[in-house]
Amino acid sequence: MKTVLVTGAGSGIGEATARLLAEQGYAVGALGHTKSELDSVVEAIEKAGGQALALDADVTDETAMRAACETLARQFGGIDAVVANAGINGVWAPIDDLKPEKFDKTIAVNLRGTYLTLHLTVPYLKRAGGGAIAVVASINGTRTFSNPGATAYSASKAAQYALVQQLAVELGPYHIRINAVCPGAIDTEIDDNTDIRNREQAEIPVTYPKGSIPLTGKQPGRSVDVADAIAFLLSDQARHISGTPIWVDGAQGLIR
Ligand code: NAI
Repeated sequence: MKTVLVTGAGSGIGEATARLLAEQGYAVGALGHTKSELDSVVEAIEKAGGQALALDADVTDETAMRAACETLARQFGGIDAVVANAGINGVWAPIDDLKPEKFDKTIAVNLRGTYLTLHLTVPYLKRAGGGAIAVVASINGTRTFSNPGATAYSASKAAQYALVQQLAVELGPYHIRINAVCPGAIDTEIDDNTDIRNREQAEIPVTYPKGSIPLTGKQPGRSVDVADAIAFLLSDQARHISGTPIWVDGAQGLIR
C-alpha cells in the first residue's frame, strides 16, 4: 500500500483529494490545522473502508510538520506521494494598502509552507526509491494576472510553479516526479480566508466575453474536478510527466 501526505485536507480540494486517493487504495495522512475537520475527514475515509490518519500541524511550523511526517511514516511504513495543497487567499488589496505582515502571511503559508512540506517529505520519497508530488498552485500567477489586488497570492503561486520546475530537474534522477495543478474558480471554503480591500483602486475595467468560464458559464468547478487531476498526476499513468502545470479551470485562465 502506498502512503500519501495531503496538506490542507480538512476541506475543499484537499478533502476531495484525500477521499479520492483513499478510495484508490492509498493510506492517507490528512494534515491541517483544524483538528475537528481532519477528524471528520478521517472518519469518512475509514467508514468507506480506507485508511487515514489525522495530522494536526500548521504548514508554517517546522517542528510540528517534522513530527507529523515522522508520525505518518511510522504508522504506514514510509511516504510515497505528497499533495502540497494547504493555502490561503489572504489579503487582496492595492499594493500601497497591502501591509508587510499580510504579505508575509500569504507567502509563509502558500510558498514557505510548500517548501517546508517538500523539504521534510522528499527524504522519505528518496528512501522509497521514488515517488510523486502534486503542488496545488492556481491560475493566478501562472496565466491570470487580472484579479485586482491579488499581488501576494499571485506571487506565491508563481513561485510555487517555479519551485515545481526547478525540483522536477533536481528530483528526476531520484525517480521523483513533481507537477503543478492550477485550479480556476472552485467552489470551496477558501473565501473564508480572503480579505478583499479597496478592490476598485486596483481594478482595470475590462469587458470579458459572456460568462467568466468558457466551459461552464458562471458555474465554478468542484473540488473533485481538481482531485481527479491530482490523482492522475500521482498515478503511473503520468509516469513520464514532470515539471508540468495542468490548469483545471474550464479555460477560465485563457480569457482573464
Ligand atoms: P479551503 O480553504 O477549503 O482549503 C484549504 C485548507 O488548507 C483548509 O482546510 C485550511 O484549514 C488549510 N490550511 C490553511 N492554512 C493552513 C496552515 N497554515 N496550515 C495547515 N493547513 C492550513 O480552500 P481550497 O480552495 O480547497 O484551497 C486549496 C488550495 O487550492 C489552496 O492552495 C488554494 O490557493 C488553491 N486554489 C483554490 C482555488 C479556489 O477557487 N478554491 C483556485 C485556485 C487555487
